[in-house]
This record gives sequence, C-alpha cells and structure tokens, in this order.
Amino acid sequence: MMFKSSDTLQFVRLNKCACFPYELLLLADPSKILVDAYIHQSDVFVATYNDTVYGIIVLLPLDVETFEIKNISVQPPFQKQGIGTFLIRNAIQYAIDNKKKKIIIATAYTSTHQINLYQKIGFKIIAIKKDFFLNNYPEPIYENGMQAKDKIVLSIQL
Ligand code: ACO
Repeated sequence: MMFKSSDTLQFVRLNKCACFPYELLLLADPSKILVDAYIHQSDVFVATYNDTVYGIIVLLPLDVETFEIKNISVQPPFQKQGIGTFLIRNAIQYAIDNKKKKIIIATAYTSTHQINLYQKIGFKIIAIKKDFFLNNYPEPIYENGMQAKDKIVLSIQL
C-alpha cells in the first residue's frame, strides 16, 4: 500500500505513561534493555493516519542544546514512502521550537541505507565508535551481509 498525497500524516507526541509500541522500537534497536534505558527520559512522537501508528521517533535530550534521535522506525510495509523523512523533518522543527542547536543520530556502519537517508536530510558524520556493537550487544547483529561492529555518529546543526 502507498500513501497518497491526500493522506495527511499527523506527528503526535506520545504521553509518558503510554504503552510504547515495542514492535516498532525493536526494529531500530534490538535490545529492549537499551530501549528501556532511554525511552522514559525521551520525547516520543509517532506518525499516525486514521488512528494507525506507522512510525516512531524518540528524542533524548542530551544537554540544553542537543537532542539525540535514539530510535526511528517505520512499519516495514510502509517504508520508502517518505514516513521516515517526515518523522525527522518534524523532529527537527520540534528541536528548533525547543531552542536546541543540534541533533545527533547514531547507527551501525552496516546501515548504509539509513546513513544515506540521514545525509540526504543534512546530517554529517562526526565520529566513528569502534567496536560499539561488539561491546554493547549480547548477540551479533548482521545487516546487508556484514556484521555490525562500529557505530557511526551523525549530527545536524539547527
Ligand atoms: N517512493 C519511493 N521512494 C521514496 C519515497 C516514495 N514516495 N519517499 C521517499 N523515498 C525514498 C527516499 O528518497 C529514501 O531513499 P534512499 O533509499 O535513497 O535513502 C528512502 O525512500 C527512505 O526514505 P523514507 O521513505 O523517508 O524513509 P522510511 O520511511 O523508509 O524510514 C527508516 C527510514 C526509519 C530507516 C526505515 O527504513 C526503518 O524503519 N528501518 C528499520 C529500522 C531502522 O533501521 N531504523 C534506524 C536505526 S538507527 C536509529 O534508530 C537511531
């Protein structure tokens, strides 16, 4: 199914006490322990249409100037239709409205498609954390035929 231009997604903040959609969150971050370590301190938004949740974005305040996108995820049948871009663009506007100066996002070196998407929106690579996924995840993670080892950190100035 494709979204039509007349299908207007809503960018909706989830209440702190809401039951978070873990099936979406775990698509982006396979460790529930790590998700639970940041989700309750974060500002969480979903992309909805007709009361159905199609995607989620999680913004953790790192300091007064910075949000980190800890998690972004779109339901698999609805990926590549602009929902991820919609979530990031709305997160950027929310950060600007909250006087933040930058947003960072980090992902595995093997997530080439995601890294391309973030760079298209304007994020730039600022750091590589060697062996992050080897040292922080109990199970090996494979993506695009490669084992995820290093973490790439990207940033956008607002
Ligand atoms: N038709 C065809 N292609 C389109 C359309 C369209 N109407 N709209 C956008 N696209 C293209 C974009 O140009 C982009 O192209 P690219 O492949 O060259 O980068 C691509 O589709 C993706 O853009 P979006 O559609 O905006 O992104 P999507 O809705 O697929 O969301 C996301 C991206 C969140 C990464 C999604 O693929 C996903 O949920 N993946 C699994 C979870 C994941 O990996 N999350 C990120 C982990 S890192 C972290 O969370 C910090």
